[in-house]
Amino acid sequence: MEPVDLSYSGSFAAGFPHEFFNWLRQNEPVWWHQPTEHTPNGIGFWVVSRHADVVAIFKDAETYSSELGGTQIYDGKGMGYQLNQTDDPKHRRLRALVNKGFTPRTIGRLEDDLRARAKRILDEVPSGETFNFVPAVARELPLQAICAVLGVPQEDRAELGDIVDLAIGAGGGATMSPQHLKRLSAYADALVERKRHHPADDILSIIVHAQLDDGSPQLSNMELRAFFNLLFPAGAETTRSAIAGGMLALIENPGELGRLRGNPDLMKTAGEEIVRWTSPSVYKRRTTTRDVELRGRAIRQGQKVTVWEMSANRDEEVFTDPFRFDIARDPNFHVGFGLGAHFCLGANLARLELKVMFEELLGRFARFEVTGPLAWTNNNRLLGLTHLPLKAFPK
Ligand code: HEM
Repeated sequence: MEPVDLSYSGSFAAGFPHEFFNWLRQNEPVWWHQPTEHTPNGIGFWVVSRHADVVAIFKDAETYSSELGGTQIYDGKGMGYQLNQTDDPKHRRLRALVNKGFTPRTIGRLEDDLRARAKRILDEVPSGETFNFVPAVARELPLQAICAVLGVPQEDRAELGDIVDLAIGAGGGATMSPQHLKRLSAYADALVERKRHHPADDILSIIVHAQLDDGSPQLSNMELRAFFNLLFPAGAETTRSAIAGGMLALIENPGELGRLRGNPDLMKTAGEEIVRWTSPSVYKRRTTTRDVELRGRAIRQGQKVTVWEMSANRDEEVFTDPFRFDIARDPNFHVGFGLGAHFCLGANLARLELKVMFEELLGRFARFEVTGPLAWTNNNRLLGLTHLPLKAFPK
């Protein structure tokens, strides 16, 4: 099998290279990726593709650090202070503080608001005419949800959304470009300052003012800015890809779409299956803190180890018929939200968004039709559709 350059965004331009990963899982489950002209700093990295190994690595943060090099093939920019790029004890403190804003109760309270938003978004969908589902629908709800969480004023939403899109596109797909990150940061600083002096009824206000019983310091301005910058790529891009990819999967599997229409109770398992199927957050990187052996391969201290959730979520040892989209799949031990200490902070919000959006879509439209070619983000990290031309026919 000809190796695919996994450090090259272009390798993902037509979607995830499943064939190569099917081969890796069977033949080289812990594979050494030689550096190519695209690999950051010319340093090779390990590629872990099996579910059991991905789970083991996620659960062993002491050996597989998120702080030493961040979570991408590129070294991170927030190492040591951005939530996802810290290890204990730093991670424990940061996570405990932001958790105060992300309780099931605070997220549950958003349901009515999100449903009203979803309805307004769908009001704009032209009936029976081709439109691009991604910007019109899939992008909108997650963006509005993050803005609601952060208490971003309504009138700033579009501008912020554009900055985030540009930031992700302009960074060559893998990192945010510095000038866009700067604009996002300036916005974050001003917003945090406002919430510090005028707390409102939003999750960011709770987080800005959060305190722990152990007396550890509140979040600093720098930590809050890093958190703000993390939420857009972590929460908006991922959920957008899940909604768009979920819509496509339902259209391509009319039997499953019909089953969901007939059994609204299946929405919960359907949401999990959509996350497994789309795996919008494709891979993670860790850096070893010691020499370690994995499936007989010797990994040296300080090496990069990448784990591929999308591949783990197609592992035939864990999922029956993994390439079948099954809205009632149960159990469904997917790792689409990660696992262990860094398990997705926004998982409950993402699940709520998926539920609300698909309930509203199925409630309103009788039929959907893909009308043109698809296009994908040119990105190996946040993989999703950018073009999903559709016709939607109201009931
Ligand atoms: C379908 C949508 C989503 C997917 C597939 C997803 C996936 C993930 C994954 C795989 C991780 C683990 C990162 C790691 O181990 O390094 C993660 C962490 C995280 N996610 Fe999500 N996510 C989604 C939605 C959201 C939303 C809506 C938010 C915010 C509102 C969010 C915020 C975060 C944050 C802050 C972390 C870092 C947690 C930590 O390091 O402790 N995510 N997400």
